[in-house]
Amino acid sequence: MDNKVIIFDTTLRDGEQALTASLSVHEKLQIAQAIERLGVDIIEAGFPVSSPGDFNSVQQIAKTVKNSIVCGLSRAVEGDIKACADALSVAEQFRIHTFISTSDVHVQQKLRKDFSDVEAMAVHAVKYARQFTDDVEFSCEDAGRTPIDNLCRMVENAIKAGATTINIPDTVGYTLPHEFGGIIDNLFNRVPNIDQAIISVHCHNDLGLAVANSVAAVNAGARQIECTINGIGERAGNASLEEVAMIMKTRADILGVHTGINHQEIARTSKLVSHLCNMPVQPNKAIVGSNAFSHSSGIHQDGMLKASNTYEIMTPESVGIAKTKLNLTSRSGRHVIKHRMESLGYQESDFDLDTLYTDFLKLADKKGQVFDDDLEALLFNIQQHDTK
Ligand code: KIV
Ligand code: ZN
Repeated sequence: MDNKVIIFDTTLRDGEQALTASLSVHEKLQIAQAIERLGVDIIEAGFPVSSPGDFNSVQQIAKTVKNSIVCGLSRAVEGDIKACADALSVAEQFRIHTFISTSDVHVQQKLRKDFSDVEAMAVHAVKYARQFTDDVEFSCEDAGRTPIDNLCRMVENAIKAGATTINIPDTVGYTLPHEFGGIIDNLFNRVPNIDQAIISVHCHNDLGLAVANSVAAVNAGARQIECTINGIGERAGNASLEEVAMIMKTRADILGVHTGINHQEIARTSKLVSHLCNMPVQPNKAIVGSNAFSHSSGIHQDGMLKASNTYEIMTPESVGIAKTKLNLTSRSGRHVIKHRMESLGYQESDFDLDTLYTDFLKLADKKGQVFDDDLEALLFNIQQHDTK
């Protein structure tokens, strides 16, 4: 099996669905180009039939992006698929992504159909999409809650109809990692033509398991992960691209897979998406949160000054963040104060560490975080006092 995991970014489709204000075409283009620079394999640019604005932005992205495959979403109906093909046909390489629900609750309550009707619609949609391109992805919406026999049947028929990628979404973020991995495992064991398609996963984060479920699926043989920058997406969001990519890189020893992501582009892409989407990133967010590479406890800071791998499993530089931060707080020890003074250009002979540290602790107790300017002001006060 190929060890490359294809990264399919849906920031501009699933991610955009979750925004309160829609992005302009120019903003979408900026994001698409940043995602292309990031080395994403496939960019899902939007849902062309949904509005003239979406059609136009998908078309502009299709014209501009050259190094990633541009994809559009469509329900399993001809009108949607045709709109996708029309918007995408200007692209260097494009994919049509068509989907229909397969779980009992969606088939019966949302679509109000029988499973066999849905199956026929899926087969027809895939065959129709293949008239426009050889690159057709089919998704079984709510696959995570679909009875496994139905899921196997649907996947087998979609591949027979010509789907080249089969996507298994955990649409409502309901499954547990071992359970979701088991679904993928079952597909590999039970669907006779499974080798003729790439198996993809698309996990939502309702229980905070989107990334864990995606990793479990890769372990079971999935080779495409659908994800978004900063994990934005419907409700609690989608699997976050930066976490997925850094897991594949940092734990390649166990997973044995890689992606084509340019990791150093991660931080700036995250900032751009956060800014344009008006969606702040939580400080403790893995990889891209403002605290992801900052250390506060004295014990950790002391360790970090001795060797960075004591408390960091990847370097900030590897994801495009300038450097590790050692926050000066009342938990910081003398060692870090001495180190900081030296990095600010002071010699050991310029200050008495015991006095400075005592004053630092008093200020830190009052203020929380102490900044470089505060440290220098403390030193200045001590020096003034000494000369009186
Ligand atoms: O969550 C989902 O099931 C989707 C599909 C359209 C792939 O977004
Ligand atoms: Zn989704």
